[in-house]
Amino acid sequence: MKNNPRSRYTDSINFYGKTDPGALLKAFGSPLYVYNENVLRERCRTLKGLSAHPGFAVNYSVKANANVFLLRILKEEGLVVDAMSPGELYMDRLAGFSPDEILYISNNNSEKEMANALSHGLLISVDSLSQLERFGRLSHGGKFMVRLNPGIGAGHSSKVVTGGKKTKFGVPLDAMDEVFSLTRRFNLTLAGINQHIGSLFMKADDYLDAAKVLLDQADSLPDDIRGTLEVIDFGGGFGIPYRKYDGEPPLDMAALGEKFHSLICAWSEKSGYRGRFLVEPGRFVAAECGVLLGRVEAVKTNAGNHFVGTDIGFNVLMRPVLYDSFHDVEIYRPDGSGFDGKTLVQTITGNVCESGDILAGERELPAMREGDIVAILDAGAYGYSMASTYNERQRPAEVLIQKDGSARLIRKRESFADLARGFEGLI
Ligand code: LLP
Repeated sequence: MKNNPRSRYTDSINFYGKTDPGALLKAFGSPLYVYNENVLRERCRTLKGLSAHPGFAVNYSVKANANVFLLRILKEEGLVVDAMSPGELYMDRLAGFSPDEILYISNNNSEKEMANALSHGLLISVDSLSQLERFGRLSHGGKFMVRLNPGIGAGHSSKVVTGGKKTKFGVPLDAMDEVFSLTRRFNLTLAGINQHIGSLFMKADDYLDAAKVLLDQADSLPDDIRGTLEVIDFGGGFGIPYRKYDGEPPLDMAALGEKFHSLICAWSEKSGYRGRFLVEPGRFVAAECGVLLGRVEAVKTNAGNHFVGTDIGFNVLMRPVLYDSFHDVEIYRPDGSGFDGKTLVQTITGNVCESGDILAGERELPAMREGDIVAILDAGAYGYSMASTYNERQRPAEVLIQKDGSARLIRKRESFADLARGFEGLI
């Protein structure tokens, strides 16, 4: 966009294709999640390029974004998927994934949920001894996976570290003997081991160190159990550079791929393993293909602090409020007039009735005014999937910029009728 230092990133990748943010908001309303198909496909290909090992596959973690249209694109790109709830499983099936393309990576399942996953013929990963016992009772003689807690954790916030002593996830390595005795007691087959140490690493070595721990565990399985392994799933956590305008470098996927490929090739050669090796990314697949658009509805100065009030409340994007997450911001002037170069430290807020409703605190940006459009970058992962109807605001629509640059509605904006659905027949 002309005269706009704050559209450089989306301009550089032609994010909006044949359309533009003003036209999108006019056609589909505000706020609006916008995804770019080319970016999504590129991320899938980068991940698939991590290894040419015949058993290697990318298992997309659906919790990051479960839009069925995006899932269908991932299927075309040859990814498989996880599910961690009956709802995610439902979406996976709706997108056309078959049971052998879905891994049920669960936590604290009810008996009904576990039975539901079994009835679909899924391989289930249990992550505690009590869940394993439940599995044994439900599926005597069945096949299962176990999620290990390797004792190492990592992540961008303590809320997303999922390995180590202080987290609820996985079976600690020193409890593995009990896993083996339950396996024998219920005549089960241990078909896989998996882990996920946490979300958002930017250095390859953190992931590789944890991967080695998992392979060591596979090596130390008892003889009668080791031979039955068919899945080794190293988990997700692949980071993306959220600070794009500060030049934050991306994760070096080529270097990671080189080491990862050598690791799994060497290990399968040594061990004779012929099964699958999975990585399980969510954010890396979906984050950068998504931008969240909204409008500036008010500007004000309170005691020298400049506030830009938008229609993007934390019901639409929770990450900044929940984890203090940083998302870069672009701003556009819908009449195309551009900005005059004057910048101001501004705090961008939403329209929710809480003072914590801050999208971006104290950012030096061109001075904004009512009617400007705000774009929150890297909103494709854990954006819509964590949105809520707090303040009785309806969840926004989602639009896909397709390969040919045209825009397609891929989820309708919620309506008052959606808000009232739970009362149908009761009032
Ligand atoms: N596998 C398992 C078992 C997981 O629990 C997760 C994420 C993933 C894979 C994918 O992780 P990723 O590659 O996306 O880092 N809402 C937070 C992230 C929570 C991640 C939870 N588990 C956020 O917005 O940063």
